[in-house]
Amino acid sequence: MTSPAGVERVLFTEEQVSERIREVAAEISGKYRGRDLKLIAVLKGAVFFLTELARAIEIPVKIDFLAISTFGGGGPGMVRIAKDLDDPIQDEDVLLVEDIIDTGFTARFLMQTLAGRGPRSLSICTLLDRTVRRIVQVPVDFRCFEIPDRFVVGCGLDYKQLYRNLGYIAVMTPDKD
Ligand code: IMP
Ligand code: MG
Repeated sequence: MTSPAGVERVLFTEEQVSERIREVAAEISGKYRGRDLKLIAVLKGAVFFLTELARAIEIPVKIDFLAISTFGGGGPGMVRIAKDLDDPIQDEDVLLVEDIIDTGFTARFLMQTLAGRGPRSLSICTLLDRTVRRIVQVPVDFRCFEIPDRFVVGCGLDYKQLYRNLGYIAVMTPDKD
């Protein structure tokens, strides 16, 4: 696939992304050794990361999904669950898998919601972390890459629902419209 219009530069190549995901998967396997782990991915962006991460993890994993939507004009923190998990997480070791943590509002909302359901443990793993834009603090247990304050696409991240299928992560200049 040739680079779409608007893609300015590749930040991480497909090879760099895969290699880093394998490293983080090894960290996760080490931390949860001897236990089962439930991976929870947020639709839709985190699905691409989840599948690659899950295949590289060397302990038994279950997966589940939730979807969120923003309301009230999408202002910060205005997040609700649009599709809930299929199963309870009570007494399970849970890892929330995110594509990107930006302001932190989404992750904080999800962590609070999941914590209320009595998991045995609850941690976060994110593909991308943009700490320069953080407004609310969330503990990030596993991260693949820290990124600069630029809009990015690829590896599940979209611009107007497009470009999730790019294998690399690229900086994008959204068109003015
Ligand atoms: P937060 O609540 O500000 O942390 O927002 C996180 C959500 O915003 C992510 O799950 C993405 O859907 C979206 N997002 C933030 N930055 C980007 C980006 O650079 N590219 C694509 N989506 C983004
Ligand atoms: Mg999005």
